[in-house]
Amino acid sequence: MKITVVGAGAVGATCADNIARKELATELVLLDIKEGFAEGKAQDMMQTAALLGFDTRISGSTNDYSKTANSDVVVITSGLPRKPGMTREELIGTNAGIVKGVCENILKHSPNTIIIVISNPMDTMTYLALQSTGLPKNRIIGMGGTLDSARFKYQLSTTLNCSPSDLNALVVGGHGDTTMIPLIKHATWNSIPVTQFLDEAQQQTIINDTMVGGATLTKLLGTSAWYAPGAAGAALVESIVRDEKKLFTCCVSLDGEYGQSDICLGVPVVIGKNGWEKIVAMDLSADEQAAFNKSADAVRNMNDVLKTL
Ligand code: 2OP
Repeated sequence: MKITVVGAGAVGATCADNIARKELATELVLLDIKEGFAEGKAQDMMQTAALLGFDTRISGSTNDYSKTANSDVVVITSGLPRKPGMTREELIGTNAGIVKGVCENILKHSPNTIIIVISNPMDTMTYLALQSTGLPKNRIIGMGGTLDSARFKYQLSTTLNCSPSDLNALVVGGHGDTTMIPLIKHATWNSIPVTQFLDEAQQQTIINDTMVGGATLTKLLGTSAWYAPGAAGAALVESIVRDEKKLFTCCVSLDGEYGQSDICLGVPVVIGKNGWEKIVAMDLSADEQAAFNKSADAVRNMNDVLKTL
């Protein structure tokens, strides 16, 4: 199994570190445009192998895509991160060109790969990856909902004082501060609806805190977060390479599902060796469906910006 992570910044390096620790690949390539940067990070990670006991061979490459040839999975983290006060959407002007170039280069050397998109604005970058590679839609996966659902579980766990891994909770829609939809009425604590333990005000606080989860960290850190985004990318890689068929919310191409078409948006999907293998239908309430449609409108407007670049 060969995996490439494009972008050796904090998110890419954390994702690669998780992939190596879990031994998801025999070969792991880290690529970056900054001279020597990916090589340095790869060497540093390789020097943890004897300590952590993994056998993945990690190598770095300064923009030489021939080193990524025949990758089974490619994770794209390239582009600028958010600065405090910025929305993910404001990054489109810079990141669209970068992500398009990365996709073209990846495709030349790995024409059958599965691509996981982390770069922001993630929904539009996933749509761009689908358009610019022409890969079958099941091979293009946007990571956003996986991260947002993990943040949702974190927020629920702090209020419920329980283990985040005992929770089932999904965030659907876009990966934007105002476009994501934490589905609190469907969330359970080991099958028990969380709404049984939370009043309306608590529910609203959890929803709001989840939606601004990334922005809160950007303010605290001075740049966007990396541990959870990197771990979310690696969790998707794991479900693909081990063919786990786990259910995550991911940004995928919709063709009538959830009432939307010609858009990539976050919905529950099964992730396995073929990429996203199935969109899982959920019964959304009228309010939830209306929020999903509103989210789709916002993401579609952002996708339209691609035509002007
Ligand atoms: C975040 O929400 C990087 O978009 C990512 O932290």
